[in-house]
Amino acid sequence: MVSATGGVLQHMRQEHKVCVCLLDAMDRMADAIGAGDERTLRVARGIVARERGYDAMVHYAREELLFERMQARSPRGEVAVRGLSHEHDELTRMGVTLLEALDARLAGKPEDPARLRHLAAAYVEALRNHMSKEQQQVFPLAEEILRPQDWSVVGAAFGEQPDLLAPPAGETLADVAQWLSEHGEDPLRC
Ligand SMILES: [Fe+2]
Ligand SMILES: [Fe+2]
Repeated sequence: MVSATGGVLQHMRQEHKVCVCLLDAMDRMADAIGAGDERTLRVARGIVARERGYDAMVHYAREELLFERMQARSPRGEVAVRGLSHEHDELTRMGVTLLEALDARLAGKPEDPARLRHLAAAYVEALRNHMSKEQQQVFPLAEEILRPQDWSVVGAAFGEQPDLLAPPAGETLADVAQWLSEHGEDPLRC
């Protein structure tokens, strides 16, 4: 269990950092995703599957708890988190659609390269914007308005905190790092 204010937000910020790192890599893979070579599609699939798994199942659930406490604590909290739960749903929908498109292409089904590239770019942009709002507005306000009992409730949802750089996230990071190296790109910074 994560006990204090700093612990909860520190973990959430670290989760964002790993996610941003993978999204940066996906940006650099955009042309190759559109071209549709199998290796690139598999690495891109790993990034989206990880986000659909860990982030959508674990990270969003913790944030929902944080948002509830902020809404209950202050009108400013209510305003700051407005729409973010809907964005979680929308990101989930976009992630599923992108994963299906990548799988279809990997299965050899006809998939418009421009559509695939567009789906990937839109997903990266939406996720980046969402995390930016949380980092810039929501987390600082949470530090200001939440009380120790709120942090205890949110922290209790953490249980054992996995090492984000260990598998399965670590495997995705290793695959992405390998892809970047093979394509002469700068290494990951996370
Ligand atoms: Fe979120
Ligand atoms: Fe988040």
